[in-house]
Order: sequence, then C-alpha cells, then structure tokens
Amino acid sequence: MVDYVPGLAGVPATKSKISSIDGEKGVLAYRGYPIAELAEHSTFEETSYLLLNGNLPNADQLASFESHLKANRRVKYNVRKIMRDLPATGHPMEMLQTAVASMGMFYAGDECLTGSDVCEDLHYVQNMSVKILSRMATLVAMWENIRNGYDAIQPRDDLSHAGNLLYMFNGKEPDEYLTRVMDACLILHAEHTINASTFAALVTSSTLASPYLVMAAAIGTLAGPLHGGANERVVEMLKEIDGPENAKAWIDKKLANKEVIWGMGHREYKVKDPRATYLQTMMEDWVKTRGKLSKMFETALEVERVCEERLAAKGVFPNVDFYSGILYTEMGIPVDQFTPLFAVSRSAGWLAHWKEQLTGNKIFRPTQIYTGEDIRSYAALNKR
Ligand code: COA
Repeated sequence: MVDYVPGLAGVPATKSKISSIDGEKGVLAYRGYPIAELAEHSTFEETSYLLLNGNLPNADQLASFESHLKANRRVKYNVRKIMRDLPATGHPMEMLQTAVASMGMFYAGDECLTGSDVCEDLHYVQNMSVKILSRMATLVAMWENIRNGYDAIQPRDDLSHAGNLLYMFNGKEPDEYLTRVMDACLILHAEHTINASTFAALVTSSTLASPYLVMAAAIGTLAGPLHGGANERVVEMLKEIDGPENAKAWIDKKLANKEVIWGMGHREYKVKDPRATYLQTMMEDWVKTRGKLSKMFETALEVERVCEERLAAKGVFPNVDFYSGILYTEMGIPVDQFTPLFAVSRSAGWLAHWKEQLTGNKIFRPTQIYTGEDIRSYAALNKR
C-alpha cells in the first residue's frame, strides 16, 4: 500500500512544463524565465502569452494577443445584472466565483473538449483563455463600483490590462507609475506550480468541465486564508501591531499561543520567497519615488526581522502575501479586493494548466485509507 502523505506534501500530482520552483535557492521561473526578469521587463499580457503558449511572443503575436484581450473586456448585461443583485456586504471572492460560473451560462460552448492525446481544438482553448483572462479583471474592478451603488465603469480599450484594471476601479486616469506597479504585481502572482487552487483547477479540468467551472473551482480554493486569502490577513495583522515598536511582543505572544504569523512560511520555499524579495524592492522604490516610509511598511520590515530570528531555523520566511497587501493598500485598493486581484493574475496560470491538462487528459481519482466502521447491518429506527 502507498503511504498516506497528509496534504500530499511532496507528492507529484502531474507533469508540467509551465513553471518551476527551486525552494532551496528561492527561484521561481515561468517557462524557464526567472520571475524577477519578467517582473522587470515583461508585461502581464506578454507573460500570460508565455504561460499559455510556452514561448515569448514575437511583436505580431503580442499585438494580436493584446488586441484580442482588449476586444473581450466587456461582459454581458445579464452578468452585471446578477452582480447587482448580490449583497454588497458579501466577500468579493464569493462574488467572483458566482460571476465567473454564471458566465458559463451566458457564453456556452464546451462541446469540443475530449481530453484526447492531442488537444484537437487549440483554437477553442486559446479563445476561451483570452475571454476569461480578460473578463476576470473586468468583473473584479466592476464589483468595486457595483457594491458601492454605482453603475459599473465600462472598460477602455486604449489601456493595458493593468492600466484598465486601475481605471475601472475608480474611473480615474491611471498614473504610469501605479500602472507599472500593478503590472509587476500581476506578473508575480500569475503562476506558481501545483498549489491548492491550481490543483483544484486541474481536478476540475480532468472531468472535462467547462473552463468557467474550472475557474470557479480554483477561485473558491484560492479564497482561504492559508492560500490567497493570506494577504488580507497580513494587512489586518500589521494594522493590529500598529508600529514597529510593538512587533516583537506581538509576535512572541502569537508564537507562544502556537498561532501562525500571516505572510510567513511556504510549503515549497525554505528561503525567502523570490516574489516577496521583488515586492519588497518595489516597496522600497515606492518609498524613494513617492515619499516617506509608510507605518505599515516600517512595521512589516520589523516583523520580518523578528520572524527571521524566531522562525528561520524552521525554514519559515516571508511569502508573496507578506508585501503584496502593503502595496495594494498604498494604491488605495480595499483589503477584501486583494485576493480577487490575486485571482485576476493567477487566472493566467490556471488557464495554462487547463490547456496542459486537456492534452493527454486522465481524470483524477485518487484513493483513500478507510478508517471508519466495518460493514454492519442497518438497524430500524425503533431499535437504535
Ligand atoms: N507562523 C509561525 N509558524 C509557522 C508558520 C507561520 N506562518 N508557518 C510555518 N510555521 C511553523 C509551523 O508551526 C511548524 O512548526 P513545528 O515544526 O514546530 O510544528 C513548522 O513551521 C512547519 O510548518 P508547517 O505548517 O508544517 O508547514 P506547511 O508547509 O504545512 O504550511 C503554510 C505552509 C503556508 C500553510 C504555513 O506556513 C502557514 O500557515 N503560513 C501562514 C499563512 C500564509 O501566509 N499563507 C500564504 C502562503 S503563500
């Protein structure tokens, strides 16, 4: 019998060419390109093309991909109508899951999925990927207006993916610097091997469900605080600590109570998550470009320093969620929209895995170790 491994830690669940992690050296690469290089030089559009297609596009391929994305930014009136009927107090991840699943009803057409050795309808897969990737951003940004009682701001097709996302949040012309920061954040969160949400996407893909349902499964999985929801908790934690001078006592109390420090630790990395390193550099650049160190950033630096003293021996270091929330806060994005933004970005990776799974598909059906009762006879109600 195969040993049971809780959380499937270290158990390969698939073969993939999409991204790789070296957890000892702290390297994450998409299709072989280190993420710091992509965050520095690429755009979210180009990185998405890379993830979906395996190689960087040439100029014509990129222009065509970008214009296809722009042409698919709008969502149908009926999807907006469903969103308007949702309670404004609900969590945006639940809105996103509902809206994405509902899109499957308004944009039907999964009949060509067969999961054979060669995915025979690449055109369909490419088309759906672009549509979903583009509209994920629209849904998240539109919700900000809808839940505040306004009409949704319609997308513009003269802006980049990141620029349009920022524009749709508040209707203001996006600043070039903020657009670049948002673009880099989208790149850094776009893909991360077989994490929980990507695994959920793979399992759902393997049943040949529609890509909207694949995305809905992944969104639900990303929502939890042990996964994408951690960046919200980090900001709440930093607000609660309320200044670097309080960090040490606060952390020691949490560790004594065996509680986790949000934004710390990762199953795959035994050193600092390279995305956290890059985000920290961006934060420092923000301080240089835009003014003084925010209290939250100062607190975060001290939390990292104290955690290094306390947790480095266990291989626990800052992960991607540690700094992303601070940047989003500085950009004026509400805390509960952090994880939806993560989903906007990660949809590129989920869709790349959807495509990969469809090529030579085999349905996931693991086994279990049964620990329940032996076979027994049904007792009538009056005999129990
Ligand atoms: N704060 C305090 N201690 C932590 C910790 C954290 N954030 N993360 C791990 N540890 C400790 C554990 O308590 C455990 O200690 P022990 O060996 O004395 O029992 C040890 O480090 C190993 O942790 P473990 O929980 O086995 O690691 P995992 O691989 O199962 O879990 C996470 C990984 C991400 C779930 C975990 O680190 C965590 O909960 N982090 C906080 C949530 C978070 O930021 N998630 C976003 C991930 S991108």
